[in-house]
Amino acid sequence: MKKITEVLNKSHNKSDFYCGKELLDNYIRKQASQDIKKDLSACYVFCEGDNKEVTGYYTLSSNSIDRSTLPPSLTKKLPPTYVNLPTVLLGRLAVDAKHQGKGLGKLLLIDALNQCIELSKTLGIIAVIVDPIDSEAIKFYESYGFILLPGSGKMFITIKTIEKTFLV
Ligand SMILES: CC(C)(COP(=O)(O)OP(=O)(O)OC[C@H]1O[C@@H](n2cnc3c(N)ncnc32)[C@H](O)[C@@H]1OP(=O)(O)O)[C@@H](O)C(=O)NCCC(=O)NCCS
Repeated sequence: MKKITEVLNKSHNKSDFYCGKELLDNYIRKQASQDIKKDLSACYVFCEGDNKEVTGYYTLSSNSIDRSTLPPSLTKKLPPTYVNLPTVLLGRLAVDAKHQGKGLGKLLLIDALNQCIELSKTLGIIAVIVDPIDSEAIKFYESYGFILLPGSGKMFITIKTIEKTFLV
């Protein structure tokens, strides 16, 4: 699938973004650009119209996960020296309320996972982690094969599963 997002920059209009979750609205309006400047996170946006209005976005950061938090079925064949396993954190994903329910969330998720597949060709990545904001978000990610990590509230999907499941 062709990439549908662009890296967030000054030309994008994000001040009116509203997805219904205050944390995610405030993030794109006020914090995303700062996080980019500080090399903490990359933010990808989907835009519509000449005024470059942001209708959806997601963030990616490098991350690692303690091997003990992953299911033994996944880790048993990995060398014991790898205590922290390399992952990508898909920290936030949101679609403006006016555009929800039209397939954009799915397209953004596939766009993000495609980028993770590309990254995994040049950098070791065992899985993509998400940090769902609430039970609705958990259901959304579950429908794409993400698995809840007991205790942390986070979810994961392995790069191998992404490769098998999604047309990349
Ligand atoms: C969750 C969110 C990103 C989904 O985006 P969307 O554009 O409305 O979703 P889509 O129209 O692409 O739907 C894709 C699929 O997910 C399902 N889906 C959407 N929202 C869902 C939810 N809350 N729970 C379960 N499934 C959901 C849809 O039924 C659809 O399934 P289908 O392909 O089998 O028909 C969007 O509703 C949103 O921004 N919500 C507020 C922020 C949020 O909760 N983000 C979650 C990550 S922290």
